[in-house]
Amino acid sequence: MAKVISHLKAKDLTIGMVPTMGALHQGHLQLVKRSLNENDKVVVSVFVNPTQFDNKDDLKKYPRTLDDDVALLKTVSKTDIIVYAPTVKDIYEGETESEVFDFDGLEFEMEGKFRHGHFDGVGTVVKRFFEIVKPHKAYFGEKDFQQLAIIKKLVEKHNIPVKIIGCKIHRETNGLAMSSRNTRLKPEYKTAAPLIYKTLKIAKEKFGTKSAGKVSEWVEKQFAKHSLLELEYFIIADTKTLKPIKRKSNKKTYRAFIAVYADDIRLIDNIALN
Ligand code: PAF
Repeated sequence: MAKVISHLKAKDLTIGMVPTMGALHQGHLQLVKRSLNENDKVVVSVFVNPTQFDNKDDLKKYPRTLDDDVALLKTVSKTDIIVYAPTVKDIYEGETESEVFDFDGLEFEMEGKFRHGHFDGVGTVVKRFFEIVKPHKAYFGEKDFQQLAIIKKLVEKHNIPVKIIGCKIHRETNGLAMSSRNTRLKPEYKTAAPLIYKTLKIAKEKFGTKSAGKVSEWVEKQFAKHSLLELEYFIIADTKTLKPIKRKSNKKTYRAFIAVYADDIRLIDNIALN
């Protein structure tokens, strides 16, 4: 990969990167298309990163579909995409361990509370990708909004010369945020899961007139009475700090974040509130 990159850079070509864990879907393709529009070549990494999983079973079950991924990418471009699918050894020379990062507290909120070590794992692999691929721009989806904020922080704190671009959440027609995990949903859970986004949209409406506490109570009630979906958290947070809202201020922007279990599959989503 390093050789390919120096060859491209010697020709003055611009490089975009879309890091993924594979099991590609239309959401990923949107990132790839945008990256193709804004760069000469696009590196799509396909790597299921072991250090960002706090649950061994989740890591084992994570879908691995490299041939299908390559076929899907070829439908977008047969000439300008480079698929980078390293082995664990390529990325982690020696121990398969994370670096420990300080993301100014962003790492302790929401996902950080429920998935121990997750963002150290993400930071480690993304930093390594940037060292190897040296992209001019890198594209990440807003579905993982906290991850996006943390990667911006990583780049800022480590002076990595790459522009991080956040892209809007891509949804199924029923509103469910696209995710590689959706393919593992059993039919009854697939039918139930659109409630997550539906609830977020109503929460946004309620946030116009009600306190964050009242909105959260309402959301919790919706899931408490649901037989299939289990709410892990619903939090209204400051978009910049990701800290839970204390008192509404017109000068700040807020986002609602949600994590829900559909059987053993964890789904996350979020929405801008103002
Ligand atoms: O969002 C993902 O798919 C992963 O967290 C990433 C950024 C590819 C790092 O493994």
